[in-house]
Amino acid sequence: MSKKPTPTESQVETTGHSWDGIEEYNNPLPRWWLWTFYLTIVWGLIYTILYPAWPLVEGATQGLWGGNPRERVEVEIQRFDDANAGIEARLVAADLTAIPSDQELASFATNAGAAVFRTWCAQCHGSGAAGAKGYPNLIDNDWLWGGSIEDIHTTIQHGIRNTEDPDARYSEMPRFGADELLEPEQIDQVVQYVLQISGQEHDAGLASEGAMVFADNCSSCHGENGMGDRTLGAPNLTDAIWLYGGDEAALTETVMNARFGVMPAWSGRLSEADIRAVATWVHSRGGGE
Ligand code: HEC
Ligand code: HEC
Repeated sequence: MSKKPTPTESQVETTGHSWDGIEEYNNPLPRWWLWTFYLTIVWGLIYTILYPAWPLVEGATQGLWGGNPRERVEVEIQRFDDANAGIEARLVAADLTAIPSDQELASFATNAGAAVFRTWCAQCHGSGAAGAKGYPNLIDNDWLWGGSIEDIHTTIQHGIRNTEDPDARYSEMPRFGADELLEPEQIDQVVQYVLQISGQEHDAGLASEGAMVFADNCSSCHGENGMGDRTLGAPNLTDAIWLYGGDEAALTETVMNARFGVMPAWSGRLSEADIRAVATWVHSRGGGE
């Protein structure tokens, strides 16, 4: 029985090409495909007329509707700045200590402050502000330089031990070992004493010698009882919170070579409104004093 010829086989011409006996039919393209194709060309042309498209020597055609996306971003930013201008002015004018209890200001400032923190502070203090070795935890109740909103504001504004701001908070622990201010055995003794006052395992004999070394060399900054002194940024040595570490090796390293934690000043980089916002945020997280 002979097969019924398909339309192609019977009606369509070949293109005349032939490869090893395989011939190429000259089938028309499907209509739907062809029209879709024409439509994309028309669409493309209209699009390049309406939106920025064709590259020129400098820049590109602007398009009838498109405008410059960069300009649009600027307009958006300006819109937000304008919307916030009123409350930012109020934030800058307010008494620092009045901000946390002013609901509207506090809620604006903590929101804005959290964003400032993520952008400018998190790389050192950690995304949750819990700090790391050498970078203090800002959400506990333990403060080196003070935890009132004014203290925090001053710290952020001027920074700590930087060379860029003459009003930066400053203090410098001597390098007792490196500069041979103490004998090695005195360092061992005072380290044992610090272990003792921070409630850790220690050698009682050495520690009692260390008490004297401490009184003579350390108490001027860290206080008679080792509780620290915020006017000098000298940490409390009697609690379990350590900036650089509280074990024997870390304590010895600190007493030998001292530490010199530096924080940049922000007054030149951030607006006063941003500084106040982030101060309010830190204050609200840090068990504000
Ligand atoms: C380059 C690292 C760095 C950056 C960035 C940084 N800090 Fe600090 N910050 C430090 C260091 C280091 C200290 C501790 C200095 C010391 O030993 O006294 C500190 C201390 C502080 C303190 C004092 C804490 C206390 O216990 O008294 C506050 C508050 C603070 N930073 C807030 C901020 C805020 C807010 C920002 C962002 C605007 C920020 N820091 C950005 C490094 C940094
Ligand atoms: C001139 C003031 C000063 C004197 C004197 C001083 N310190 Fe300090 N000490 C500091 C300051 C300021 C810091 C914080 C340094 C920093 O953050 O970079 C510090 C930090 C420390 C730390 C680190 C605490 C931590 O949380 O990691 C220890 C430990 C310490 N001091 C022990 C001593 C001992 C022991 C002596 C005496 C032998 C002494 N200090 C003398 C100012 C002083």
